[in-house]
Amino acid sequence: MYSNWVTVDTSAIRNNVQYVLEHTQTQVMVIVKANAYGHGTIPVALAAIEAGASWCGVARFSEALELRRANINCPILLMGFTPKEHFEDMIVNQVSMTIWDPDQIPWLSTSAERAGQPARIHIKVDTGMSRLGIQPEKVLDLVQLLNDNSYIQFEGIYSHFARADEANPAAADLQWDRFLGVLADLDSENVRPPIVHIANSASSLTRAETSLSLVRFGIAMYGLHPSAECHLPEEFRPALSWTSILSQVKTLPPGRGVSYGHEYVTKGYERIGTIPVGYADGFRRLPGNQVLVGGKRVPVIGRVTMDQILVQLDKVPESKTGDEVVLIGRQGDEVISAEDVARVWGTINYEVACAVGLRVPRIYK
Ligand SMILES: Cc1ncc(COP(=O)(O)O)c(C=O)c1O
Repeated sequence: MYSNWVTVDTSAIRNNVQYVLEHTQTQVMVIVKANAYGHGTIPVALAAIEAGASWCGVARFSEALELRRANINCPILLMGFTPKEHFEDMIVNQVSMTIWDPDQIPWLSTSAERAGQPARIHIKVDTGMSRLGIQPEKVLDLVQLLNDNSYIQFEGIYSHFARADEANPAAADLQWDRFLGVLADLDSENVRPPIVHIANSASSLTRAETSLSLVRFGIAMYGLHPSAECHLPEEFRPALSWTSILSQVKTLPPGRGVSYGHEYVTKGYERIGTIPVGYADGFRRLPGNQVLVGGKRVPVIGRVTMDQILVQLDKVPESKTGDEVVLIGRQGDEVISAEDVARVWGTINYEVACAVGLRVPRIYK
């Protein structure tokens, strides 16, 4: 029915959420930002909640609204920047927001007053990621501002690891110690935020002590390895596969140029296949790509074009128009994983999953 399509196995999502729930014995916030890492926000969120996840984490207010519009009523944390013009909308929709700067407070309380209900907030502490967050030594002052403000509900405090997916634990240890230091400082002032969190996929699987009130579970929920140094236990299953078909198969004579620029020229009589996927679908315009045809890896030849690629099919002489092509996933005994694709593209599996374009239909099983 389609030129190329993504299949998301929601039972893999459920399986992976159940694993982390059992393993950490704490609440799970599933990270469904960026269209659930390309997998599709709503079906992933529903599967994860069905499996026992209690929170959803997003990066943009539009992603929070998408969840609410689909009647997903669980707590949502907006982990990124929220333009102040959208504070009121987030409060009305009972989306918890991330705060890291005292300057956010006046607008937040004005918005809460207008909304007629308190703003729920989590303070983000920069313990070493250096991206978003208040410096540890300034947390107490910010908390003081919140305590004096009846329009603000101080729901939680959190931080984010920069290097929990590395074999060497030193950098993550330092962040963990800084975070514990902040919690101890608050405790000495009798401030005990209800929800305290720092763990991502990597640390929730490798550092039991970091699970705290909840774990923010992203890449591992999709069955993708946090990094080459932090592999998932074998119980995890990848949820996403990306498939297409051979739209044409032909034999070309020697000396024929293939695709724009004729970077590939046939050496002899060669079987060449055309596949309706291109860089506009997110298939990167880089050399070295491979796909599966007839259960075998075949090379993508010539330049990737906007809507189509070409493959050399001499290894699969029986292949014909209409045959299935796997870009990511399993075919017979062969697998091309998101990690394999990431190596060819010079990136990480996170970016591969997010790269699959919006024009590619997602099918859920
Ligand atoms: C603040 C925050 N928490 C949690 C996560 C989830 O991380 P992971 O996908 O490595 O589990 C992310 C992802 O980028 C994030 O930005």
